[in-house]
Parts: sequence; structure tokens; C-alpha cells
Amino acid sequence: MPKMKESLKGQINRDLTSVAPSNIRTFDAQVSSIDGIVKLTLGEPDFNVPTAMKEAAIQAIEANDSHYTPSAGTDSLRHAIAHFLADRYQLNYDPQKEIAVTVGATEAIFASLEAILNPGDKVLIPTPTFPLYETVVQMLGAQPVLIDTSATGFVLTPELLSTTLEKEGPVKALVLNYPSNPTGVTYDADQLKALAAVIDRTSLFVIADEIYSELIYSGTHTSLATYLPEQTLVINGASKSHAMTGYRIGFIAGPAELMKVVTMVHSLLVTSPSNPAMAAAVAAFGTEAGRQATLTMKKAYQERRDFMLTALSAAGFEIASPNGAFYLFAKLPEQFNNKDEAFATALAKEGAVAVIPGSYFGPGGAGYLRLSYATSMKNLRLAAERIQSFVATHDHL
Ligand SMILES: Cc1ncc(COP(=O)(O)O)c(C=O)c1O
Repeated sequence: MPKMKESLKGQINRDLTSVAPSNIRTFDAQVSSIDGIVKLTLGEPDFNVPTAMKEAAIQAIEANDSHYTPSAGTDSLRHAIAHFLADRYQLNYDPQKEIAVTVGATEAIFASLEAILNPGDKVLIPTPTFPLYETVVQMLGAQPVLIDTSATGFVLTPELLSTTLEKEGPVKALVLNYPSNPTGVTYDADQLKALAAVIDRTSLFVIADEIYSELIYSGTHTSLATYLPEQTLVINGASKSHAMTGYRIGFIAGPAELMKVVTMVHSLLVTSPSNPAMAAAVAAFGTEAGRQATLTMKKAYQERRDFMLTALSAAGFEIASPNGAFYLFAKLPEQFNNKDEAFATALAKEGAVAVIPGSYFGPGGAGYLRLSYATSMKNLRLAAERIQSFVATHDHL
């Protein structure tokens, strides 16, 4: 095994030393080896890829669909995405100029921020948050401004946005993720409209990460782009809605002028996504089978959510309104003094259940746990029993 040349040490990109690897994965790795542990840590569907999507990928391989495609993705997938956005969210995008297919929502987030940010630019990120945004903003030499939303039910209110803008001076962009990872909280149309009225008066770019848009349990999802099409980049993809995390298909939709730059960045990063995965995504976004597959999974998630909500409430946790995604953000019972990391560590070691400490998701997360219910009812029953008995047998930590 080659060792790196001694004189290269200290020569690696210094800016990256301030970029910390995700402590979610570190924590997950630490507890994964515990015998018999039930893991509620990962933000990943436990379902297999639905048959229609698998068959579409297999067909693409057999038809020798193996050549480079346009950077923004195949025509058929961009059309399927345009259809999906119009059908579900009444959003109208031109598949030729306003949609690009990316390698997961992850690449979409990177390409969008890279297209917008210069070093030093400020980016507003409501917290608790999926940690990637802050990391990418830092990697690009820009400045994350974290906004703690714990006092406003984990939503960014128009008032909170206004006061932050007044305080911060010039700001380049706002990232808004809903339904939210880690809280499961989402925004209804009225909340978005009120927020959009404030944003409309600014020249902020908005990155709307709507990757969980299909997983809403009551009401319907409204995209921020409904109100602010001229300044929003909508990010979505097949990872969560169609259990296709490993296929790596995301997409971005936005105004043509902006999408031109975003697509250029994307093309420099990855050239284009993989053809069989794009063929599967056509089935996901462009067919009735794709829509039905999501609905079937959503039904199962809802049953799991309801079960866990009842079980955790009975154990003394308070849960933020969990109307979307597949997470519960649960406030520790009082006797544990907001020690979320100590609680999660002890629960893993003594109770054999793995959950993620809320403080890992930024300001406002301390004292909470994130539980993913993207796992079987059998696992959830076991986890619920173990959590209840852990709480009942510990009056402090
Ligand atoms: C809010 C949010 N955005 C983006 C992603 C990344 O999605 P993908 O797997 O499509 O890259 C995740 C995955 O957990 C997520 O929770």
C-alpha cells in the first residue's frame, strides 16, 4: 500500500481543515457494532426499488443505452420531471432550459450553491438542519448564517427572517428544506406565502430542498417556487420518494438564466448522471406505476409514524409536529436535562437502540433526538419497548 510522500503532508487544501466530517455518520458507525442494536439512525428508505423502476433500468442496459447523454439529463427524463412538477405541484418548467438531472440531491445542492456563491457571501440556513448545506457553503469559502428556529416550532417565520436580514446586512442566499430533515416539520401554503412576501422584497436566491415533498401525511405539499419562481431553485429527486437512494438521481428546476450556470457547474462536476438510473427515474416520475409506488410506501411510513408517535409520547417525549419525511424530532423527558448526546450514547450501549443526538443538527437541536422510522414495524416495536424501559429505569444520566 503506497504511503503519501512525506513532503506532501501539509500541502492538501488548507481550507478543508475547517470542514468537519458529518458526526451523524461517525456516531452511527460507533454504535453499529453493538450486539442486537436496533438502528433508527439512517435517513434512508428501507424499501426495495419498486419493480417498474428496476425493469426500466434493466431494459436500458439491455438496449445498450450506454453513451453520454446531454449534461442536463436525457430528454425523456427531463420531460417526465416537468410532468411530475406540473401534475403534483402545479409548477411549470421548460424541460429544455429549466431542468437539470443531477447525481442525487447532494450534487444538486453542491451545483446550486457553487453557481451562486462567491467567497465571503452569507447564506442563511434555518436550524436544526441537514448538515450538508453548511459544509458545502464552508467548502466554497462562503459564510453560513445559522438561524435557530426552535422557538418558532422549527419553522422560519417571516418575522425571524426579517430580523435576521436586518441584522446580517447583505445576504446572498437562503436554504429552505421542507418537509425537514431532521424535524419532519413542514410549511403549509399560508406559511410559505407569508415567507415569500418577505423574500420577494429582497434579491436573495432561495435553494428550496424539497426532496421529501412526496412524503407528507396530511394536506399537500406546496413548493416555494409557486410564489417565487424568479428567485428559487427547486431541488428534488428520486431518493426518498421512490426508495432509489443508491441510484443517485436528483434534479434542479429554476429560471433558465440561472439554470444555464447551474448546468455548467453540474457538467464540470459529473458530465451527466448514469443512463440506467435515469431510465428508472423516467418510470418513477413519468408513470402511474411510479406514483402508486410512492403512495404505497407513504402509507407504510404513516402507520410507522403514528405508532412511534404514540409510543414515544407515552414514554414522556414531546414531538415536534411530524407531518412529513420519515423522522421524529423528540424532546427528551425533563429528567435528562437536555443531554441528548449522553442520552443517545447510553441508550445505544444499555438499551440497544440507536438514534441521533439532536445537537448534531445545529443550534436549537440540543435536548432532542432524531429518530428515523424508515424501518420495519418489527424493529419499531422493539425500539419502542426498549426506549420505554430505558426511560422508566433512568431518573437521570
Ligand atoms: C434534506 C436532504 N437533502 C438532500 C439529501 C440527499 O439526497 P440524495 O441521496 O438524493 O443525494 C438528503 C438525504 O438524506 C436529505 O435529507
